[in-house]
Amino acid sequence: MKKVLIIGGGLAGCYAAVRLQATCDVTIVTKGGREESNSMLAQGGIAAALDPGDSPAAHEADTLKAGVYHNRKKAVAQLVTVGPQLVRELLQAGMPFDRQPDGTLSFGLEGAHRHRRILHADGDRTGAALTRFVQGRLQTVTWVTHTEALALVQADGECRGVVVRQVPDGQPQVLAADAVVLATGGLGNLYDFTTNDHTVTGDGIALAARAGVALQDMAFVQFHPTLLALHGRCYGLITEAIRGAGAVLVDECHTPIMANVPQKDLAPRDVVARHLTAWQAQGHQLFLDISAVANFPEHFPGVTANLDRHHVPFRRDHLIPIQPGAHFMMGGVQADLAGQTSLPRLFAIGEVACNGVHGANRLASNSLLDCLVSAAKAADAIAKLPARTPEPGQTLPQVTLGPGHLPALATLQQRAWRELGVERTPVQLQDFLQWLGQFDYREINPAALTTAALTVANLCLCSELIATQALAQPSLGAHYLKEDADESSFITPKA
Ligand code: SIN
Repeated sequence: MKKVLIIGGGLAGCYAAVRLQATCDVTIVTKGGREESNSMLAQGGIAAALDPGDSPAAHEADTLKAGVYHNRKKAVAQLVTVGPQLVRELLQAGMPFDRQPDGTLSFGLEGAHRHRRILHADGDRTGAALTRFVQGRLQTVTWVTHTEALALVQADGECRGVVVRQVPDGQPQVLAADAVVLATGGLGNLYDFTTNDHTVTGDGIALAARAGVALQDMAFVQFHPTLLALHGRCYGLITEAIRGAGAVLVDECHTPIMANVPQKDLAPRDVVARHLTAWQAQGHQLFLDISAVANFPEHFPGVTANLDRHHVPFRRDHLIPIQPGAHFMMGGVQADLAGQTSLPRLFAIGEVACNGVHGANRLASNSLLDCLVSAAKAADAIAKLPARTPEPGQTLPQVTLGPGHLPALATLQQRAWRELGVERTPVQLQDFLQWLGQFDYREINPAALTTAALTVANLCLCSELIATQALAQPSLGAHYLKEDADESSFITPKA
């Protein structure tokens, strides 16, 4: 039986495993536990053109427009046509997407969608409901949890496996495989304001980059407009579905911030995030006014629990304090429509991959759909691969673990937010790269670093790739390059 190693236990990794388990010997390796992934945190749902008034062509048009036509058209066509088939299969298998009182599927709305086409499950806890449902279908798959990937193993121009070790201090070990699938998510923890799970630290991108695998579109990081913001810190996502249900972005004077922008509060995310950032830079506070949303706690139980946990008096004043933060990486490991990377037998699926589906700015709720589609397509390609005879796993020589000459994680995150954030300037990007140049994160032996140091080294490498591409890439979608002399943002906030 072919051996397949999947690195990452979120929706993409688990769905690929489900589709491969009958024909392959599948192992999922995760740095955390089974419940630690961005998929588990996803609040907004899964977009699929299943409503009779909707069509894949309309979904395709919205995806391309939000992505500023930087998308790969074939990848978008695959997403909007294969996606609904896979969602139908999940429905038939019993996936409990939310329904109307009459039993029909309930479709929500989010930014830049022209139709209500977002399916949710368990209100705003769609990612957890869907990922657990898919995990519940795993039968013969081996889980290796709390284990990090250190390096890809290559021979004869192919990927032959992965060097892994248990966190925090296991011995490095080679796991050989006929195919390796990167499903590690993005790099949200490069920033101090992020919606991402703490385990999402650019590991897959760094693994690929160190192995010379091609990357693409690294300048395009999506900043979500609404993270819960309290005392200068962020405490998770406030889903865009709340704006889809009628909430409005306002400042401390209740001025509707998006009133003069086309599509208003439901403009594409990059537009809203920049507009809010410009407003905030003028000294305003930012809030989501939920007074128009009926039965808020019932429709948004996950957000309600988070607000209650942090004692936010939203029931009294109907305001949620928010600010933009890092959410999703459009760029990543270059992959074709079947997830094949530039290294034979290495696949990339879900957020770690850049298959071109999201363009310069991902359309809301397309990521869970892409997890399913990219995983299914990679599974089909892996099923067709000829088997190799994998070498037996071997233990690598022991090395002395050290911290390396690296910045403190908090310092890196603060600089990344300032210099690689919603707005960037050429001078800031150059300053960032010059500062980064003093650290040792490139020519390193990952096995010689502690887990904490390797995390920082991986994020340093990702940040270099973002800054370098951002300098070369004119403004587009989520990447906004402001002229250094330009004091004000290109969007002038209007009351
Ligand atoms: C949200 O719920 O606002 C996020 C959904 C997404 O990123 O697709």
